[in-house]
Formats: sequence, structure tokens, C-alpha cells
Amino acid sequence: MRISLAKAIELLKQGEVVAIPTETVYGLAADARNAQAIASIYATKERPANNPLIVHIADAEQVADWASEFSPLAQKLAQAFWPGPFTLVLPALANVSTAVRAGEPTVALRVPAHPLTRQLLRESGLGLAAPSANKYTQLSPTTAAHVESGLGSDIAVLDGGACQVGIESTIVSVSGDRWQLLRPGMISAADITLVAGSPASQATPAETPKAPGQHLLHYSPRTRCLLFDTRQALYDYAAKADGAVALLLGDQDLTGMRNITLPADPALAAEQLYAALHTLDAWQAAVILIESTPESADWAAVKDRLQRAAYQPTA
Ligand code: TXA
Ligand code: MG
Repeated sequence: MRISLAKAIELLKQGEVVAIPTETVYGLAADARNAQAIASIYATKERPANNPLIVHIADAEQVADWASEFSPLAQKLAQAFWPGPFTLVLPALANVSTAVRAGEPTVALRVPAHPLTRQLLRESGLGLAAPSANKYTQLSPTTAAHVESGLGSDIAVLDGGACQVGIESTIVSVSGDRWQLLRPGMISAADITLVAGSPASQATPAETPKAPGQHLLHYSPRTRCLLFDTRQALYDYAAKADGAVALLLGDQDLTGMRNITLPADPALAAEQLYAALHTLDAWQAAVILIESTPESADWAAVKDRLQRAAYQPTA
């Protein structure tokens, strides 16, 4: 059900969940101060409650409402990348509900850039907890129609058009003058290093801060996906596989295989990635063959999502 901005504000203030547009993917939003409303997010997504949520805020001034520390380094990053596809994990104030933090001592904060959601945040005055608006482990939605096909047509959706960035925000944790990348996104590690210097020196595995819920089963189509390092390896497999379809990069396919081709530019490929996977999945093929990206750093976030799409738990 598509709703107006005024209706979205009314529902959110009543503790209901509303799917909202952001520049990355659609979020399933609820009032981050209302534990009942947060419980509805987890129930709608069928997501385990040990998986913390990002709180979306109107501007960096609101960080003080959620975080106990906003270090000069964190402020510098906020200044550089907000509003935008960038999430800061900071030490949490004690009054941030454990439902949002899933028991972590930290809270994830983001000022999104989508104009409709910025207006929603400003006019409602709420902090909105919002994971991606899909069932747990399934593909993230980049259109209102994706939200409805994944969560059902009863879900209230504020339609803000197709998402322009197309993959989830970069997540960085900051403690004092040290930062660490927790999830790659279109703001790259190199972009962050330009602003913040090098990340914290390599932590030993035991110290590595985890982004809970970042397990590899995320972001998968229902159809089995296989990732190939080269176009030729993909073609060799396709020649022997019945009913395969393909997600290709850059050059058009000449074999006549049913496929979707993403642009050879990482930002454009990211924008179209989830829509392409949603469409390929809807074709209900035997298998989706995926051509991998170049190894260069500007492709790191798209490559990460393709690896997740193709991840198979070992039996
Ligand atoms: O672009 C995005 O970030 C989208 C839009 C809606 O804003 N949201 C999104 O949310 O991708 P979700 O819930 O699908 O992913 C949030 C990630 C999870 O992997 C979670 O582990 C991490 O953020 N996270 C949240 N709070 C955290 C915390 N306190 N410490 C470490 N990681 C945290
Ligand atoms: Mg998600």
C-alpha cells in the first residue's frame, strides 16, 4: 500500500512500521525509541533479534541523542559523507534501547540523503531504526515494487522512486581516533582514508569488531547463483548447463543466452544490481551464472554483494 508523507509520519508516531526510500536501498522503518515498534521490524523481517539496526537521523546534530562519544575523527567523517550512503558505529548512550543495539555497546547512525526521507526525519523529529525492507537473508529492495513483492502488498510504503546508489551503506566503526571498515559500500575505503588517514592497524582475529548479522547468507536470490572469474569460464559452464541465465558485466553476450548486462562502471552497476538480481530470480531459471567484477578497489562493494549472492553454505 503506497502512502503519503503525512500518513507515513502519522503511522510512525503510532509505532507502526513503514517502508521508506533511501538512496541505498528501501528501509523498513520504525520509531527507534519505541521497543514495541522495533519488535515489529524484527517480526516483519523474520530476522533474529541478535542483529542490530541502523538508526537514521536528520542531521549530525542528532548524534548527541544516541552516541556517548562523537570524536573529532567521527565528526570529520560525518562532515565529509553525510548526508549519504555512510553509517557510523559509535559508543551508545545507555538509554538507546537494547532492541536497537541487539545488546551491543555501540549504535549505528546514518543521515540518509534521499530528499523524501530527509523531510520525513525533519518533520517527524523521530530517529528511525531501519534495516533493509526485505525478509531476512533475501535480496534488498531498490524500488517500492520490490518491497511489496518481498513483504506483501499490505506493507505501508512511502514511494520515493528507484534508489540511486543501489547497494547498502558503507559501515565504519569509530573509537577515538581509530576507524575500521565493517561493511564495504560505494563510499570506499580509499575515500575514507583520504579523510581519516589509515584505518586502525590490523587487529588480531580475536579483536576484530564484528558487524553482527554480516554473515554470508545475506543478499541471496532464491535461484542458485554461481560466480565466475572470467567470461570464458562462464561460457564453458553455460555450454553444459541446461536452463542457465546470466548476469554479465560490460560487454554484450554473443551466444544468445538469456541474460542481463550491467554497465562497466561500478556506480552504475551498483545502482542496477539488485533490480537485475530480482529480475533474474523471477525468471526461475535452473541457475544464475554471474560474471565477476574487475579486481580494482572501485569494484570492491559490488564484488562483495556478488560473492554474497553466490554464497553456498557447505553441506
Ligand atoms: O544502506 C543501508 O545501510 C540500509 C538503509 C535502509 O539505510 N540499511 C541496511 O540495514 O542495510 P541492515 O539492517 O540490512 O544492515 C545493517 C548492518 C547489519 O549488518 C548490522 O550488523 C550492522 O549494520 N550494525 C548495526 N548496528 C551495529 C552495531 N552497533 N555494531 C556493528 N554493526 C552494526
Ligand atoms: Mg539487509
